[in-house]
Amino acid sequence: MDKLNILIAASEVVPFAKSGGLADVAGALPKALRSLGHDVRLVMPRYYIVDREKYALRLMEGGLGVPMGALGEVWGGVYEGVLPGTDIPVYFIDHEGFFGRGGLYEENGYSYIDNDSRFIFFSRAVMQLAKKIRFHPDVIHANDWHTAAIPMMLNTHYAYDSDFAHTGSLLTIHNLQHQGHFYKGAMEILDIGWDHFNANEIEEYDGINLLKGGIVHADAISTVSRKYAQEIRTDEFGWGLERLIDHNAYKLHGILNGVDYDEWNPAVDPFIAQTFDSDSMEGKKVCKRVLQHTFGLPERDDVPVIGLVGRLAEQKGIELLVHSIHALMHMELQIVLLGAGEKWAEHFFSDIAGRYPDKFRCYIGYRNDLAHQIEAGSDLFLMPSLFEPCGLNQIYSLRYGTLPIVRATGGLDDTIENYANDSRHGTGFKFYDATPDALINTVGWALYTWYNDSQGFEAMQRNAMERRFDWTVSAQEYEALYYRIKAGRRGE
Ligand code: ADP
Ligand code: GLC
Repeated sequence: MDKLNILIAASEVVPFAKSGGLADVAGALPKALRSLGHDVRLVMPRYYIVDREKYALRLMEGGLGVPMGALGEVWGGVYEGVLPGTDIPVYFIDHEGFFGRGGLYEENGYSYIDNDSRFIFFSRAVMQLAKKIRFHPDVIHANDWHTAAIPMMLNTHYAYDSDFAHTGSLLTIHNLQHQGHFYKGAMEILDIGWDHFNANEIEEYDGINLLKGGIVHADAISTVSRKYAQEIRTDEFGWGLERLIDHNAYKLHGILNGVDYDEWNPAVDPFIAQTFDSDSMEGKKVCKRVLQHTFGLPERDDVPVIGLVGRLAEQKGIELLVHSIHALMHMELQIVLLGAGEKWAEHFFSDIAGRYPDKFRCYIGYRNDLAHQIEAGSDLFLMPSLFEPCGLNQIYSLRYGTLPIVRATGGLDDTIENYANDSRHGTGFKFYDATPDALINTVGWALYTWYNDSQGFEAMQRNAMERRFDWTVSAQEYEALYYRIKAGRRGE
C-alpha cells in the first residue's frame, strides 16, 4: 500500500495546549501513524500559552493569506516546530487578533464572542497552509466543530483546485454537545455561498451549525468509541443531530482512543511518590498515604480512597454527584476531587470539603501532576458521566490498578468490564441509570467488595492493570479508514 499524506487539524494538541482529551488524542495519534510509516503533519492555532522558546518554534518565511469573504484577505503567520521526540511537523497558525489571548475558547467562563471568525479563519488557514508548503494530503483529518468547516471548504472553495485534486476528509466527533452554533452572518466570512445555507447542510434555526455542515460534507465521520457511534443516532445523545447522523450512518465509524503509556505508566511515572506495577504493589500503598497527606485527609490504609479528575461540566455527571454526595459522606470512604469548570460546582465541592474535612477534599484547578497522583494513590475512580464519547481517565485508572466506577455509556461502557462476583472477572463497577440511587448503590457495591472481598478486588486490579488500549491498534483502524476515503475520492 502507498504511504499516506495525512494532515491533522486540531484546536488543541498535547503538549502545546490542552483543555481536555482532544489534545491527548491529537498529540498521540500522529505518533502512532508515523510509526506506520505515513507522512503525517499537524496544524493548530498559536495561542499565547504555546511556548515558542521551549518548543523551539521558528517563524516561517512569508505570511499566510487567508481569504475571509466580507473581511477580505486576512494575513497571518505560521510557526513551525515538531512534536517533541518525533520528526512530525507541527504548524501553528499565528494571528495576534484571533489567538493572542489568555484562553483557548473562553475566559472566566465566557466563550469568546468571535469564536466563529477565529475558527473559520483557522480552518481556512489550514487549507492555505497546505498550499503554501506544497503538501498534498490524501486525507485532511478534522476534529470537532472548530475545524468542521474544512470538509465544507474542500467541497466548495477548493473543489476544483488541483492541489487538492485527490484530497478527502475525515471529521472526528469527540463531543457532539458542542457544535459551533453561530449567527448566520458568519456565512459572509465562511463565504461558501448562501445556497449552502439550507437545512440539509449548514443551516439550523436560522443560524449556522458548523459541525452539521462538516458531518454532511466529510467523506467519513468517526467518533471515539463504537458505543458512542451508536448512541449519537438516538434522541438521548444526538443533541438534535440524531436524524442527520442516522441518515449518514453509512459513513460513520467508531474508533476507540488509545492511551499514551509513555506518560501513564505507574512503573515509570515521575510524578508519583513510588513506582509500582502488577507484580509489586507496595508502591501503590505509599502513593495512597502521600495522596491522603497532600489532600490533608487522615492517613489510613483501612479506608478506601475514591478519586475523581475531570472538567466540572454537565457531561461529567456532576449533578448526579451533587445529589449523591451527602449519602456518600455517610459511607466509610474518602474522596479526592481534582477539577475545574462550572463555577457553581467549584463552590459546591469546596463547601463540601469544608463540611466533611475528614472525608472529602478537592483541588479546584488544573494540575497534571496531581492527576497522576490521584490515579496512583486512589483505590477506586469515579466517572458518573451522562455521556462520554470515549473518556481517558478510566483507561488511565485501569493501568494504575484503580478500579473505575462508571456509568455504562459511550467509551466508559466499551472500556470497562463489569465485575462478576462469582467468577471474579471484570475491571470495574458499572451502573446504568443516570440517577443518584444507581450511583450510590454502585459505590456501595464497590466499597463492599473492597472491605469484604479483598481477593476479588485484587484479582480485578490485576485484570485491570494488564489491559492495554494501545494507540497502534487504533491507528491501524484510522489507517484503514484513510485508505477507504482515498479510494473513494479517486473513484477506485
Ligand atoms: P474530556 O476530553 O471530555 O475532558 P477525557 O477523559 O477524554 O475527557 O480527557 C480529560 C483529560 O484532561 C485527561 O487527560 C485528564 O487527566 C485531564 N484533566 C481534566 N481535568 C483536569 C484537571 N483539573 N487537572 C489535570 N488534568 C485534568
Ligand atoms: C472529548 C470527550 C471525551 C474523549 C475526548 C477525546 O472531549 O468528552 O470523552 O475522550 O474528547 O476523544
